[in-house]
Amino acid sequence: MSIRIRFMILIGILSLLAIVGIAAGSYKLSADNAITEAKAKGQLVFDFLHSSRLYFKTSQRPQIMGLIDEGEFIPELMSGFTLTRGVWGEFQKENSEYLFKQATIDPLHPDNKADKYDMIIIDKFDQNQDLEEDEGTIDKNGLEYYYYAEPIFIGESCLRCHGDPAKAPEEITDLYGTENGYNWQAGTVAAAYVVYVPLHEALAKARKASINLIVIGAAGILVLMLAIWIFFSQYVIKPISMLEKRATEISLGKNLREPVTTSSKDEISSLARAVDRLRISVEKMLQRFNK
Ligand code: HEC
Repeated sequence: MSIRIRFMILIGILSLLAIVGIAAGSYKLSADNAITEAKAKGQLVFDFLHSSRLYFKTSQRPQIMGLIDEGEFIPELMSGFTLTRGVWGEFQKENSEYLFKQATIDPLHPDNKADKYDMIIIDKFDQNQDLEEDEGTIDKNGLEYYYYAEPIFIGESCLRCHGDPAKAPEEITDLYGTENGYNWQAGTVAAAYVVYVPLHEALAKARKASINLIVIGAAGILVLMLAIWIFFSQYVIKPISMLEKRATEISLGKNLREPVTTSSKDEISSLARAVDRLRISVEKMLQRFNK
């Protein structure tokens, strides 16, 4: 294989590896940035929901309880879970790509029903009850999300409404029926607050940028290779072929009068001078021989 082709293959492979490496690095960096950003957003949404819940619990509900007749249950005024569900419903009207759930294995209200993705998170909390929070990325119905979750533990006090439906307050069973949301077990994790922040758009952008980098890089490599090819042909291959031809002629005693010269001033011109000295020596030797 000619030196030129070998050199080209080497340059081509090394440059391609470098470009793919740079593109992969750039994708990783953009993806990490997207996740960091999603984390910050998720945390903010979570903190806001917690704050509204806290204000409700500490400032509003105690006063509401004083105004409401005993035995009456108005979820919108008395349940923190109803409040958070409602606040989220309003938030989502403007931010439909975000998802949040008080994901529950067997909820009173159907909107809180955990799907298979939420179930993975709830199971994780139930199996490791020291875990106070969980986060990560998840592929939900083909779309990538960052998720942040906190567990909801069931205590004895919860069973007043979520225990045996026969013993649950009538106001609750009247509103939610007796089928779902009961017979929870104290000491287990039956639910989790989970917020999902979309990542797919940012990741798709990062992927596109990396592909563009590869395409532009590959075009750059082609131009570079073309330039090297032309340079090699002109300044290396052409003079070497000429020297090879002249050395062969000299070895056959042909064309001995014509000097061997090159236009450049480099290793090849040194070689040309050496071949020329060889030509002169052979010519002199032959002249002596022929006398
Ligand atoms: C006074 C009755 C009552 C008590 C006590 C109670 N809950 Fe609830 N809980 C409700 C009602 C009513 C809802 C439905 C809220 C809605 O409409 O979204 C609910 C909803 C929930 C949900 C959302 C899933 C679902 O069932 O719709 C979770 C999780 C939850 N409660 C956990 C708890 C925990 C944990 C405790 C104990 C610390 C507790 N609850 C105590 C009445 C109660």
